[in-house]
Amino acid sequence: KKYADLYSNLLARKPGQQMSTQATIKTVQTKPYDDQKPGTSGLRKKVPVFEQPNYAENFIQSVFNSLDGFEGKTLVIGGDGRYLNREVIQKAIAMAAANGFGKVMVGQGGILSTPAASNIIRKYKAFGGLVLSASHNPGGPHEDFGIKYNIGNGGPAPEKITDAIFANSKTISEYKIAEIGAVDLDVVGSFNVGGMVVEIIDPVKDYAELMNSLFDFDAIRAMFKGGFRMAMDSMHAVTGPYAKEILEGMLGAPKGTARNFHPLPDFGGHHPDPNLVHAKKLYDDVMSAKGPDFGAASDGDGDRNMIVGKGMFVTPSDSLALIAANATLAPGYKRGLAGIARSMPTSAAADRVAEKLGIGMYETPTGWKFFGNLLDAGMATICGEESFGTGSDHVREKDGLWAVLFWLNILAARKQSVKDIVEAHWKEYGRNYYSRHDYEEVESDKANALIEALRESLPKLPGKKVQGMTIEAADDFAYHDPVDGSVSKNQGIRVLFKGGSRVVFRLSGTGTSGATLRVYFERYEPDAKKQNVETQKALADLIKAADEIAGIVKFTGRKKPTVIT
Ligand code: G6P
Ligand code: ZN
Repeated sequence: KKYADLYSNLLARKPGQQMSTQATIKTVQTKPYDDQKPGTSGLRKKVPVFEQPNYAENFIQSVFNSLDGFEGKTLVIGGDGRYLNREVIQKAIAMAAANGFGKVMVGQGGILSTPAASNIIRKYKAFGGLVLSASHNPGGPHEDFGIKYNIGNGGPAPEKITDAIFANSKTISEYKIAEIGAVDLDVVGSFNVGGMVVEIIDPVKDYAELMNSLFDFDAIRAMFKGGFRMAMDSMHAVTGPYAKEILEGMLGAPKGTARNFHPLPDFGGHHPDPNLVHAKKLYDDVMSAKGPDFGAASDGDGDRNMIVGKGMFVTPSDSLALIAANATLAPGYKRGLAGIARSMPTSAAADRVAEKLGIGMYETPTGWKFFGNLLDAGMATICGEESFGTGSDHVREKDGLWAVLFWLNILAARKQSVKDIVEAHWKEYGRNYYSRHDYEEVESDKANALIEALRESLPKLPGKKVQGMTIEAADDFAYHDPVDGSVSKNQGIRVLFKGGSRVVFRLSGTGTSGATLRVYFERYEPDAKKQNVETQKALADLIKAADEIAGIVKFTGRKKPTVIT
């Protein structure tokens, strides 16, 4: 691979270069771009878009212009190592210096997983951070890049700030940058760069310490020693160095447990999204008779996770419920949970656990940022989304390796297989059959027309019979944040059937070309004897009903979804 060479010494240490203690601050005239609206998770665009003159600079300056009181404070900077990572980090450092930050903390080699960045911001009480990533989207010269701003609690900026960033980006006329030359990102240490401190930090150390404080590393180590075999697929993305150090280094898992652990700028040409499509090889491996007992994968920037046991793929919705139900087995959660939060399209499996535990359950719109207030207020301890995201109040992002380590902790404590644990859970709580169908790269106006038509039909839906099922209620989900009172409207259309089944329709907020229609299906099955039906089969009626209700084929021209998870 062309870019592999460039990154083979990504984490190698080179001699530090001389850095100047004074720098000229340049004010550069610029013109606004009209497309810098942050989406579900920051600004994401194709690399050639980011390569336009001043494109990244405009956005970074718009971020700084939206913030108050950072003079002399610390900014954390790091990314998932994808194409453009280093270049944009250099710009961000020079602009932070020019705009008056006192210090930047940058992951060595420009590397910081999203949850690790969140931890660094919190642990060192930074003002905020810039996380450079397009998450699970492919990387490379013609693929995706992204910039996200996180606030002082370590979480993604709330809408108030992202709205301000967008407003600023539409009127920006100049940006400030210090003439400091390229900073050596590969040498750990503190340097004075143009009057600002640049601290290059080990990207793994603080994160590994945090994990060690939450989970029973001794029990997990003993399990590996006893012959337990695992495969962790980092998908040539950012968790590679973390997985290698924590699993093979600290926990003594055999060499080879960490797979695809070299972060590559193009992720080896793959799609770094841990699901049944893109992590199929890992899945097949675990399912094979001779394969490992347990498999896990994480995405481009390390915040997503996939969990597979022998004979059992664990849906993210179930994973949230199971982690919550078993939380007290992990030392960091032994005092119990304050509450659980899930995004609206995530299945209600966790709701049953919350009910049993007698704790709060919160339903938020899609997007991790909506959990921030609940976590800060101590109302929720564990959060999760159907989109392969799980996490807790230890940081303010979802956390891929955290979920993997939580599962390892549960397996080590219960000394049972994933399959046995999941089936016992269904028996006790019932099973929420669940699947998501994605229609990717649909023309935007067609996708919008579908949603519009659906929205207009909402008042007529209740009472209607579809595929033998009666619609009980239908609405466009709006979230009333119980902490700050803010309201977020139009967060997805829900169609609820009598008996508790439902279909949800929404457009993705993270795509970079065209629109992605997501359709989520859920059916509750309390009867243990009926809990082993193949998922698509168990949901077949709902799948047909969805097309009947929304006219998916008619509007999109697609006969089948692009991805089924
Ligand atoms: C990112 C966000 C998640 C969100 C997911 C899917 O990973 O961090 O919070 O659930 O994208 O978002 P989408 O809008 O594409 O469905
Ligand atoms: Zn991600």
